[in-house]
Amino acid sequence: GQVGKDGYRHYMEKELHEHPVAIGQTLQRITDPAAKKIALPALPFDAASVPRLTISACGSAFYAGMVGRYWLESLARLPVDIDVASELRYRDLPLADDGVALFISQSGETADTLGVLRRLKEAGQKIVSVLNVEHSTMGRESDLVLGMVAGPEISVASTKAFTAQLSVLAALSIEFARSRGTIDSQREESLTSSLLDLPSRAAEALTRGDAIRDLARIVAEARDVLYLGRGICTPIAHEGALKLKEISYIHAEAYPAGELKHGPISLIDRTVPVVAIAPSGILFDKTASNLQEAKARGARILAFTDSKGAKQLEGIAEHIVVMPDVDPFVIPILYAIPVQMLAYEVALLKGTDVDQPRNLAKSVTVE
Ligand code: G6P
Repeated sequence: GQVGKDGYRHYMEKELHEHPVAIGQTLQRITDPAAKKIALPALPFDAASVPRLTISACGSAFYAGMVGRYWLESLARLPVDIDVASELRYRDLPLADDGVALFISQSGETADTLGVLRRLKEAGQKIVSVLNVEHSTMGRESDLVLGMVAGPEISVASTKAFTAQLSVLAALSIEFARSRGTIDSQREESLTSSLLDLPSRAAEALTRGDAIRDLARIVAEARDVLYLGRGICTPIAHEGALKLKEISYIHAEAYPAGELKHGPISLIDRTVPVVAIAPSGILFDKTASNLQEAKARGARILAFTDSKGAKQLEGIAEHIVVMPDVDPFVIPILYAIPVQMLAYEVALLKGTDVDQPRNLAKSVTVE
């Protein structure tokens, strides 16, 4: 039936508030909460001996895949190749025998992603798809569908489907790691617990609206915005920049913070806000020093970090959104939420057509 806005101003606002439910319902399907174990359907290949995984997707789903690559490499020691579908489709890629190809799509209908799926299937790869719409073309043509349970997503810009995709990829990474013997059962339980804890942490993230609006007022005045992250937060910087472009029409670029000095630092002045996705942790000090360099060149620094990171960024960042403390494993899932909320708040200030941004379609079924 018809999906309503339930009193929210836009579908996007409603769907942002559905992050906790989308993550929770998705995890319910693929975990055993009592045992703190992953409970995915049987995989159509032997995860222990897969030589290589190829990931492909478009838009936000591609950034979810980038996060998935970090997890699969670091937890499961699995070699991963990833590219946007419109490129991978025409790359003359050397494929491994017994290789697996993983596709991520909210709709299951995106033409570029479907094109790669068909090509790699013909080349003998086993096909796994992470889909919100399971009864879709990709769903029918895959060897295994891992469903997200995000519910209908009406807003053209993806929100809850992104965190649901990440939840599935996180579970899949734990499963690969378990099969490959790269984590022990204690670690499996602690990683799974951090996932199961996410719906309540996500609900907490949704309470950061006031702080996010402080950032939004600065971003809304800008013509260009730079998003910085490092490591597993780099894809989240990309997701933030994409969302801002899509719905507020402000030019935004995402960069790994360490790459700033190799180019984009020349763009920086007071009119170019720098949005940092910078939770405390192993790469934090390096990011903080990159932000210090940007600030020294006049940039206004806006940061998403945790309580520990906030203390260290006090003298550097003009505004800080303090996020709940979580296991580093789930940071990309949690930080995607406020980054999307920022784009929404900026779009409200700009008065754009949030749910139906110009020139964009929810599902792009042409090449
Ligand atoms: C369009 C939408 C994006 C989405 C992308 C991939 O460009 O505007 O929000 O991320 O398609 O869509 P899919 O359905 O394959 O996830």
